[in-house]
Amino acid sequence: MGKIKRINHVAILVEDIEETLHFWRDALGLELAHVEDVPDQEAVVAFFPVGEAEVELVKPTTEDSGISRYLEKRGPGVHHICFEVDDIDACLEKLKSKEIRLINEQAVVGTGGKKIAFIHPESTHGVLIELYELTAEEPEIRLARARSLADRALLQSQVAAAGMVGFLRALRSEAER
Ligand code: CO
Repeated sequence: MGKIKRINHVAILVEDIEETLHFWRDALGLELAHVEDVPDQEAVVAFFPVGEAEVELVKPTTEDSGISRYLEKRGPGVHHICFEVDDIDACLEKLKSKEIRLINEQAVVGTGGKKIAFIHPESTHGVLIELYELTAEEPEIRLARARSLADRALLQSQVAAAGMVGFLRALRSEAER
């Protein structure tokens, strides 16, 4: 119990999602599945599926969030690695027994009912690590996302994604006024 199943995602902080598309989408050739405003994280996130995992490009949308301060202090780059586990509570107990410092002593419940906890970088030799225990519905959500991506022509998805970023940006500047 408390077993690591796979890497779920790698989160990368960026200053501008559109600017990074030249590398991640055009040069590396990853598919941009979707771009989403995530108010919980005070960020806009671009999702690139890579096999069973995802690369998430995260752009902070507020000035005073943890990720916004992190970006300002350390610049763009890898923010955290997320491991999917079968039993997060067992995992946290095991980590505590090994005197690993946790940011979340108890798992918190996120979107779709998944359970989430972060391990403090102080105990991991400098890497922020997120743990996920997914609900049964989560693979379904991911599948639906992949299906809708396959349904769209690549050009269409690019236009839609670019339009979405522009749309979200316009919304934000509207809100800041
Ligand atoms: Co994450």
